[in-house]
Amino acid sequence: MLSPKLAFLLLLLHAVSGSAYRWFNWQFEVTCESDAYIAPQNELAAAKFLKEQYHEGSHIKVVGNGHGFGNLTTCVDNTLTKKPTYIVSLTNLKKLSIDKKNLTVTFGAGWDVDDLVQELKANDLSFGNLGVERVQNFVGAASTGTHGSGSNIGNIASQITGLRVLDSQGNLRVINETHNAEELKAFRISLGALGLITELTIKVQPTQLLKKTTKVLNATSDFSKMYQELDQLYKEHDRMTVWGPHFDWDENTQSWALEPTYFLSYWEPTDYTGVRNCTLNYCANGCGDCKKEYICYDEVTDAVSCPPQGVCSRDFYAEIEHFLPIESYAEAAANYTTFQQAQTPRMKAPYNKQMVIQHRTLKGDDTYLSPVNTYNLGPESSGVFAIIEIDWIQEYNNFTTLWQNQELAHEFLPQFGETYNVRPHWNKMSPPNATYTLEKFPKLPEFLAIQQRQDPKCQFVNEFLVQQLGITRCADYISL
Ligand SMILES: Cc1cc2nc3c(=O)[nH]c(=O)nc-3n(C[C@H](O)[C@H](O)[C@H](O)COP(=O)(O)OP(=O)(O)OC[C@H]3O[C@@H](n4cnc5c(N)ncnc54)[C@H](O)[C@@H]3O)c2cc1C
Ligand SMILES: *[C@@H]1O[C@H](CO)[C@@H](O)[C@H](O)[C@H]1NC(C)=O
Ligand SMILES: *[C@@H]1O[C@H](CO)[C@@H](O)[C@H](O)[C@H]1NC(C)=O
Ligand SMILES: *[C@@H]1O[C@H](CO)[C@@H](O)[C@H](O)[C@H]1NC(C)=O
Ligand SMILES: *[C@@H]1O[C@H](CO)[C@@H](O)[C@H](O)[C@H]1NC(C)=O
Ligand SMILES: *[C@@H]1O[C@H](CO)[C@@H](O)[C@H](O)[C@H]1NC(C)=O
Ligand SMILES: *[C@@H]1O[C@H](CO)[C@@H](O)[C@H](O)[C@H]1NC(C)=O
Ligand SMILES: *[C@@H]1O[C@H](CO)[C@@H](O)[C@H](O)[C@H]1NC(C)=O
Ligand SMILES: *[C@@H]1O[C@H](CO)[C@@H](O)[C@H](O)[C@H]1NC(C)=O
Repeated sequence: MLSPKLAFLLLLLHAVSGSAYRWFNWQFEVTCESDAYIAPQNELAAAKFLKEQYHEGSHIKVVGNGHGFGNLTTCVDNTLTKKPTYIVSLTNLKKLSIDKKNLTVTFGAGWDVDDLVQELKANDLSFGNLGVERVQNFVGAASTGTHGSGSNIGNIASQITGLRVLDSQGNLRVINETHNAEELKAFRISLGALGLITELTIKVQPTQLLKKTTKVLNATSDFSKMYQELDQLYKEHDRMTVWGPHFDWDENTQSWALEPTYFLSYWEPTDYTGVRNCTLNYCANGCGDCKKEYICYDEVTDAVSCPPQGVCSRDFYAEIEHFLPIESYAEAAANYTTFQQAQTPRMKAPYNKQMVIQHRTLKGDDTYLSPVNTYNLGPESSGVFAIIEIDWIQEYNNFTTLWQNQELAHEFLPQFGETYNVRPHWNKMSPPNATYTLEKFPKLPEFLAIQQRQDPKCQFVNEFLVQQLGITRCADYISL
């Protein structure tokens, strides 16, 4: 802890050096004060900036759109450090080229997911997979392992075949399938810890059409039975998301009341070429009349994810998202739900509204820090992961309630992590500790060796990265 006097002196020191910039994540609970917001015009300007800052060892946090739930994406606050501290955004890097023959797209780090979706559609191309929303920056989304659902499809990062990255001295490194190929496994999901990615190349496909089927299911408080049924459905449909069960906060009983029904959607390839109509009912993020049986047809991105105008709910929420080998899914989901129910009496803050449990699947991969990395799986595992998400949604944006729910959310990983080989989403609020990270991410040492090469002076790290990845050489990153 700094003395108030020293903190004040540091404040003055930073005040003379320019226009302070306060960073916030999307729901304003993660924040830091930096010395400036830097948005270089191009890769060369970004390299020049890094070269200049290397000498002073300035703290540098590269950000996308801040759509995360924990402390991954935040700078070193300038009250804590004597060195300059910056938020860097590559939003101006907007080059794009499409190789229709090789079915690849190469684009600057400034592209947001939704803009890229539109660009691809205009060129008769589709992404293989996407998350539920498209508000993220593409590099920001890929860098934390953002994903949709499908036992046969990977996360967004698995589409990356090449990239350009600047290290802390401003040196450019090109990584692709013929050049430093092994390092693709480190850089596909890099948490901003390996440098500024200026450009990505991803695989795409010719326009792909899907049929989406939505079904209403009956909920039961026999969670074990309910999740065994879902487990069975996951064997029948490889691309499926289950939205539910849903619980509503009951003011009188101060507990969660199970809604009688919930719903799921599954997607299949189709040769239907009639009217594309999935965007008539997004059925995600609080939108649309979801508990309704229907089918629709659309281009893959419109069938599986929601454009910004389809996002209705922007209330504060706490969220966890855990990945575990699918073989344990039914048992784990039942235990997660029961454990949550046991927490209810401690949910004393006001403004609870709804709690939604969501279920997805994902194909495992070999990216070092992928939540679905297969390095520690035994021969009994299929390599497919189940994903359990719990959202605690508020009716009013009140920090007391948000923090209370986040505290309770933090209890799930210690409770179930070891039993079910759980890996948390990096940007969704379930920080592992370094010992646990090493166990679930056996390639962590390889990642950290590259981290040291890319960032010898610990300029790219923050508290989250040092703690969660156990970057011991950077323990004194504030004063180094
Ligand atoms: C409402 C909501 C819905 C969501 N739905 C899903 C979902 O369906 N599936 C899912 O998996 N996730 C989902 N997420 C999580 C979200 O996809 C991730 O948090 C994602 O990382 C956010 O992207 P961003 O651009 O906003 O990232 P930021 O938080 O700004 O950045 C993420 C990381 O990327 C790094 N980074 C950013 N740009 C660069 C760069 N140029 N070079 C190097 N590193 C960089 C940052 O340093 C940081 O570590 C959701 C989040 C919200 C808020
Ligand atoms: C983020 O860091 C702040 C400051 O250290 C801490 O109070 C807060 O609990 C952290 N948030 C989460 C979700 O871990
Ligand atoms: C396209 O693919 C071919 C064959 O794999 C390869 O030789 C060529 O370099 C690729 N072109 C680009 C621009 O990547
Ligand atoms: C990989 O990068 C190298 C170095 O820039 C380049 O020569 C080569 O064409 C790239 N390969 C692919 C497949 O893009
Ligand atoms: C759900 O319950 C209703 C009323 O009991 C019943 O008519 C319906 O068939 C049930 N649906 C399913 C999918 O079991
Ligand atoms: C979409 O179009 C198909 C084919 O015309 C139709 O069967 C279906 O009901 C439509 N779905 C919606 C949500 O309008
Ligand atoms: C999960 O549930 C099973 C069956 O109900 C129980 O035996 C087991 O102890 C639970 N495990 C955990 C980690 O809660
Ligand atoms: C949040 O709720 C608590 C408890 O009711 C209250 O004390 C506090 O003032 C509220 N905060 C805001 C910003 O509304
Ligand atoms: C590390 O985290 C795991 C998972 O949350 C937990 O089981 C373990 O007890 C933690 N260890 C320490 C030393 O905190």
